[in-house]
Amino acid sequence: MKITQLIDFLKDVPLFNHLNNNDLEQIANICSERFFEKGKIIFYEEDLGTSFYIIVSGQVKIVMVSNEGKEHILGLLKERDFFGEISLLDGEPRSATAIALEDTETITITRDDFTRLLRSNPDISLKIMFTLCKRLRKADKQVESLAFLSAQGRVARVILDLADERGEEKDNKIVIYHRMTRQELANIAGTSRETLTRVLMDFNDNKIINIGKNRIEILDKKRLKEQIF
Ligand code: CMP
Repeated sequence: MKITQLIDFLKDVPLFNHLNNNDLEQIANICSERFFEKGKIIFYEEDLGTSFYIIVSGQVKIVMVSNEGKEHILGLLKERDFFGEISLLDGEPRSATAIALEDTETITITRDDFTRLLRSNPDISLKIMFTLCKRLRKADKQVESLAFLSAQGRVARVILDLADERGEEKDNKIVIYHRMTRQELANIAGTSRETLTRVLMDFNDNKIINIGKNRIEILDKKRLKEQIF
């Protein structure tokens, strides 16, 4: 990417959108570009944290993997989201594994530059804290789901969360476009793939949602909310 393109991109990143062109140029000068093919591991949980990442295009899933290879998805990150901040801030190893869900372009900032950036720009630190709070609230909700909700309730909540994050209103429906497999959706909901499929089909047959390829349509949001128990 040319420096001017990079500055234009940075302007649109919520973390930096309060900065002037001069500041943005300084940040552009400390960024490197890294590309990850679909399915590539960006880093593993327990790796040493060396860089901060911002997604330019594509999608990244943040996962924890059990000893038996079972994957639990903690978060799905898209264009302009950041990740990799925790280990840079607390000096511990990576808290989770990051995997490219699609071909993904990122820009990275080294640990030393990241620390310098936060020291000189308190507003960036505040914005990072704001995002960390949002992610913590979501993680708390996930714990609540796993501890207290039925499989049906967990699937309903995952669909409603996806709708909040990326749903598009169309003809009285909320359409969620996604690139996830059934197994990946099950990994977010904390169910088996078979259970997820059974619940989705049940919602589909009861006209609460409509399932399509790479698409879930919410037909009746109120009834979907009522499935959370
Ligand atoms: P770090 O610990 O350096 O490496 C793993 C990254 O995953 C972490 O920084 C965060 O950026 C991100 N991450 C960890 N937990 C979550 C979560 N629950 N939701 C979204 N992102 C997360």
